[in-house]
Amino acid sequence: MLTLNLTNADSFLPQDYLTSRKPRLEQAAEMLATHSGPGGDFTGWVTLPRDHDKEEFARIQAAARKIQKQSQVLVVIGIGGSYLGARAVIELLRSPHYNLKKKDTPDVFFTGNGLSTDALLETISLIGDRDFSVNVISKSGTTTESAIAFRIFKGMLEEKYGKEGARERIYATTDKSRGALKGLADAEGYEEFVVPDAIGGRYSVLTAVGLLPIAVAGIDIQALMDGAAQAMTELAVPGLDNPAWRYAAARHALHESGKKVEMLAGYEPSFRFFAEWWKQLYGESEGKEGKGLFPASLEYTADLHSMGQYIQEGQRLMCETVVDFAPKGEFLIPNDPENIDGLNFLAGKPLSFVAEKAMRGVMLAHVDGGVPNVLIQMPAISETSVGFLIYFFEYVCGLSGHLLEINPFNQPGVEAYKSNMFALLGKPGYEARQAELEARL
Ligand code: PA5
Repeated sequence: MLTLNLTNADSFLPQDYLTSRKPRLEQAAEMLATHSGPGGDFTGWVTLPRDHDKEEFARIQAAARKIQKQSQVLVVIGIGGSYLGARAVIELLRSPHYNLKKKDTPDVFFTGNGLSTDALLETISLIGDRDFSVNVISKSGTTTESAIAFRIFKGMLEEKYGKEGARERIYATTDKSRGALKGLADAEGYEEFVVPDAIGGRYSVLTAVGLLPIAVAGIDIQALMDGAAQAMTELAVPGLDNPAWRYAAARHALHESGKKVEMLAGYEPSFRFFAEWWKQLYGESEGKEGKGLFPASLEYTADLHSMGQYIQEGQRLMCETVVDFAPKGEFLIPNDPENIDGLNFLAGKPLSFVAEKAMRGVMLAHVDGGVPNVLIQMPAISETSVGFLIYFFEYVCGLSGHLLEINPFNQPGVEAYKSNMFALLGKPGYEARQAELEARL
């Protein structure tokens, strides 16, 4: 399914980069498989494609059908790991213009992922007087951005449909026993889905967190899981041929050689949000104890005309990973008898031929400019290929975190910002911290 090509990174890597890391890769893979090592309690995602709750999976599919029948719009409330995965998959598999398309599934609006009044008002006006349902997603159940948005949309639903009618349109995805959202969902009798204890936000796209909105958008979530399950089986095979081992080792060696930034580049505009998901996955997992490659993303060829100069000649901080999907269709470049633009040498050639040559040319230019390149080649974008790629990146991230000797599954930095915000907002219980922070402002 996935081909990893390290040819254009090799010259930047010590010859023994792979063999010298073999014992540590073995140990990292073992820690993931046995849910041990730092953060082992949060490695439920490793076997999720096989061991997920089948009863809940069927309920997700049923809830998606109900939402599709009842509503023209689904409002998805969540932030970070409670939002990026669903948006990434919907954009990649359906389109970044999904809401603009003629379709028989509801529009999906993502909100509660910031504190912009303008964005909130725009979402409300885009919903207009259409029927809508809400999926509120928060593992902790206490995240301020999503809690505020939920209060607003819950109120709108209750005003439009009454309390009973609103209950029929609200779906809460949260912890199975803790948090304010859990308490609210229990008290109000909303249909509930669980963010499993052993799976952190950024690894949760293949739980109800991602699957419900994804299914509402008409995506075959079984095929998505099948793709992930295939990756799970293939990547569990130990050895230096394992593409996850090779990629994790290369990333680690590049980091040790002084690279500070990993750029994830794609040639599909629909890949943009997948890269956002990837940035959270790697940034939150690896950015600890002063370590980790800073994850950045680029959309080619557009960004070659804005960021290309820096990549070619700016500070030599970066390595690059390119994800290349096979095209789904073909478009031939037309002949023009006048040929004033001089492009007839390409006439009759598929646009994908030009794209392929551009990709190779960019890669070689970047290598010449001192930017090591990793190429990940995928079949055409489909539920199974995307499911595979999700799991591949998650698994490489787990291995990479263990190679770095950090806990790849916590996020103390995110918690730090959240508690500062609570304190500055005057949340009860944070009085001492509030006084301390305000004195510093
Ligand atoms: O990965 C993480 O833990 C974070 O990005 C969370 O997903 C994000 O902060 C949202 O948290 P919650 O789902 O608890 O509302």
